[in-house]
Amino acid sequence: MINYTVDSDGIATLEWDLPGRSQNVLNEQTMAAFGEAAQKALADASVKGILVASAKADFIAGGDLDMLLKATDAQAMSDNLKLWHKLFRTLETTGKPVAAALNGTTLGGGLELALACHYRVASDNPKARFGFPEVTLGLLPGAGGTQRAPRLMGIQPALLFLTEGKRIKAAEAQKQGLIHAVVPAGKEREAARAWLLEAAAKGGKTLQPWDQKGFRIPGGSVMTPGGMQTFMAGNAMLREKTQGNYPAPKHILSCVFEGMQTDIDTGLAIETRYFVNLVKSPEAKNMIRSLFFFMQEANKLARRPPDVPQQKYSKIGMLGAGMMGAGIAHAAATAGIEVVLLDTSREAAEKGKAYSARLLEKRVAKSQLSQDGAAAILARIQSSADYKDFAGCELVVEAVFEDRALKADVTRKTEAVIGADAIFASNTSTLPITGLAEASSRPANFIGLHFFSPADRMPLVEIILGRQTSPATLARAMDFVRAIGKTPIVVNDARGFYTSRVFGTYLSEGMALLQEGVAPALIDNAGRIAGMPVGPLALADEVSIELVHKIAKQTRADLGGKYIERAADQVAALMVDKLGRLGKKSGHGFYEYPADAKKHLWAGLAERFPVKAEQPSLDAVVERLILIQSIETVRCLEEGVLTSPADADVGAILGWGYPPFRGGPIGQIHTMGLPNFIAACDRLAEQCGERFRPTEGLRKKTAEGSQFFPI
Ligand code: NAI
Repeated sequence: MINYTVDSDGIATLEWDLPGRSQNVLNEQTMAAFGEAAQKALADASVKGILVASAKADFIAGGDLDMLLKATDAQAMSDNLKLWHKLFRTLETTGKPVAAALNGTTLGGGLELALACHYRVASDNPKARFGFPEVTLGLLPGAGGTQRAPRLMGIQPALLFLTEGKRIKAAEAQKQGLIHAVVPAGKEREAARAWLLEAAAKGGKTLQPWDQKGFRIPGGSVMTPGGMQTFMAGNAMLREKTQGNYPAPKHILSCVFEGMQTDIDTGLAIETRYFVNLVKSPEAKNMIRSLFFFMQEANKLARRPPDVPQQKYSKIGMLGAGMMGAGIAHAAATAGIEVVLLDTSREAAEKGKAYSARLLEKRVAKSQLSQDGAAAILARIQSSADYKDFAGCELVVEAVFEDRALKADVTRKTEAVIGADAIFASNTSTLPITGLAEASSRPANFIGLHFFSPADRMPLVEIILGRQTSPATLARAMDFVRAIGKTPIVVNDARGFYTSRVFGTYLSEGMALLQEGVAPALIDNAGRIAGMPVGPLALADEVSIELVHKIAKQTRADLGGKYIERAADQVAALMVDKLGRLGKKSGHGFYEYPADAKKHLWAGLAERFPVKAEQPSLDAVVERLILIQSIETVRCLEEGVLTSPADADVGAILGWGYPPFRGGPIGQIHTMGLPNFIAACDRLAEQCGERFRPTEGLRKKTAEGSQFFPI
């Protein structure tokens, strides 16, 4: 795992080279091997300096997440970390110079190891990124990052760096004091060697700044006016951002606050306690499982039908240049795919293309893209009003108005032009795919690709299978989703598919609470405190109460006697039909949207939905808003709308901003434990209605003692 060599100048090179993996990671085995090599170099009197390097394209990607997901034994974790700290401290204090040659990306534990070296030189590799992404997975850097980074960067910059999980480029890392030098790619080992030889020639002990007499934290310590202000403001800002739901950034603040008031060894011991506490937390387990492992599965197309050759895309068609069409066209063109963007007239299509032009201009203005790069992307979008231009398209995505007859008409016109094996994908948000495919002469090639708004930014695509959609079409559609850098989940054709259906329960539960006389401010605050990006009433305004009402009416018409009335239906009907309050777009919904001031709850709600004297607790409202989504997701799984709980959790987080610390609607059940979830839902079913009643399948699963996820 570590290639050990000593050259004629007495420089020992410890080269990380984890066999069978594309990236080096820190775990018990690799650290044991590294420790052994380091001890050998330290003990060898002929070794004058130690160079740490990597044989891979990157330096070290970070800690082994598989290990962290499975870790439950606090004592073992703590003992293990103590060993790592001891090793790093030995490297820092024996006096032999140690340098790291950072040839590529250096993240998490990799950066921590580098910070324990006396000298760090990075290559100017444009792909290389430096950072502590631990916080994004509910963790903190546990191998000294919270102690060494602030001692190098200063408290305030380090807090931002550690709590935001940002990945910065080499030049920025140098500016921030994390690395000493940036050299042309391929020269980093040479530069590190030169520094080592110079340090060795100087004689004396090479030490870290914090091990030298008179060391001061750059920018001042904790107990200074600046330091106190940083922590006061930092705590408040964090609270506002996380609602207290994410322990990781809070623990990082504590590590820095406590650790900067003591010596580094005590600081490291403090960090270890906070780290172990986090690794064991459900928040970290949920985030590692959903945001890392499930997301990775989805992006690697784990559920792609095998044996279908990968489809490359060079030209696609986009039907409809409205809000969605323009966004999808932009995403495809950015990914290097030619797009024919078709609307009822050239002018209408040009409007869609102009959307791309505006987005590109912004990126050029921010120096994220060159003028030429932007021009090349824009040139890939061909506006058109002529179906003939669709000739040669490997796939056509339809995003015209949500109207069955219109969609049927454009399907036929498109199929008359495109090749026999081309795919036709509808971006419908509500119409069943099987029904839309009736207009198609090749329903096996017909599929749903449900994008989210704004389509150029939102990362999820919900792929919907019609009854006749072929596995090959699914595989090739998944290839398209990946080709434009988005994450797919696969669902079967059913009312609301998965995302709209479960997301809808959040809105309707909010409206049900309103109908019951719960204070609207309590409802929306509870939504945000639960971790949802927006409260349910404000969100209903955003998507438009009119749309909620329209979908309910359509569903009632389609289901007839089988339709189960919801409190939300009455609320939406009253708001739309009687009061003409359609939502944000009309300027009036549950909120008022004055042109010159911030939105505020509509005062008239008090008259229409009188607030009852006795209000439920905040926790009780949070519970309803969260558990309703979980139980509906379970139904989607049992009805076969969803085929995997992993897709459920990925879809929720990416699709409607479900809070990652809960894992997802299924992660939430897993965190509570099935028996507790069932008990809570039975209680809510008695109090609020049968919509909360746990399914028989769930009871069976519990009786069998099984659960959704192993960890
Ligand atoms: P939009 O109204 O912004 O755009 C529709 C476009 O289709 C317009 O530019 C219109 O001129 C064009 N169009 C109408 N008839 C046409 C025809 N015969 N030939 C070519 N173009 C024609 O609508 P939006 O929001 O982009 O929605 C489009 C589709 O995407 C709908 O099916 C909608 O349900 C679905 N959708 C919408 C989402 C949203 O958040 N707006 C999210 C996901 C799906």
